[in-house]
Amino acid sequence: MIEVELAVNGERETVSVDATQTLLDVLRTKLGLTGTKIGCNQGVCGSCTVLIDGKPARSCLVLAAGCRGRAITTIEGVGTADAPSPVQQAFIEAGAVQCGYCTPGMVLAAEALLRKTKRPSVPEIREALSGNLCRCSGYTKIVDAVKLASERAAP
Ligand code: FES
Ligand code: FES
Repeated sequence: MIEVELAVNGERETVSVDATQTLLDVLRTKLGLTGTKIGCNQGVCGSCTVLIDGKPARSCLVLAAGCRGRAITTIEGVGTADAPSPVQQAFIEAGAVQCGYCTPGMVLAAEALLRKTKRPSVPEIREALSGNLCRCSGYTKIVDAVKLASERAAP
């Protein structure tokens, strides 16, 4: 086991991890951050998306031991049920959540996009979310939600 200090949602946490343990597993099982979802566990679906140094990353493909000194943001660091982030609020208002399993990853991918591009076009939104699969197939409303959030942030 290796001791590693992780910076998650602005808090420093020291955890003991196996050298082969993924960030996804450590977030969920050691830090209790179960908002990060397990889908395929092999880098295909995007449900495990977190931000590492502000960029979307599939946490099922990232070794926790390699995250020392990196800033990790999970959905718990974005907003809460009582105080949703503007992107989360837009998802609610646009009806972009069905079963909700893909939603944390979608929201984080959208957050990363909007930090970089204030008023993305629809093709840019689709491109940014293209690595995130929604089994409920609610893509149109998800794109609408990201557009709504961007219009509110940069009218
Ligand atoms: S669980 Fe990581 S990409 Fe599917
Ligand atoms: S809302 Fe169900 S998987 Fe996307």
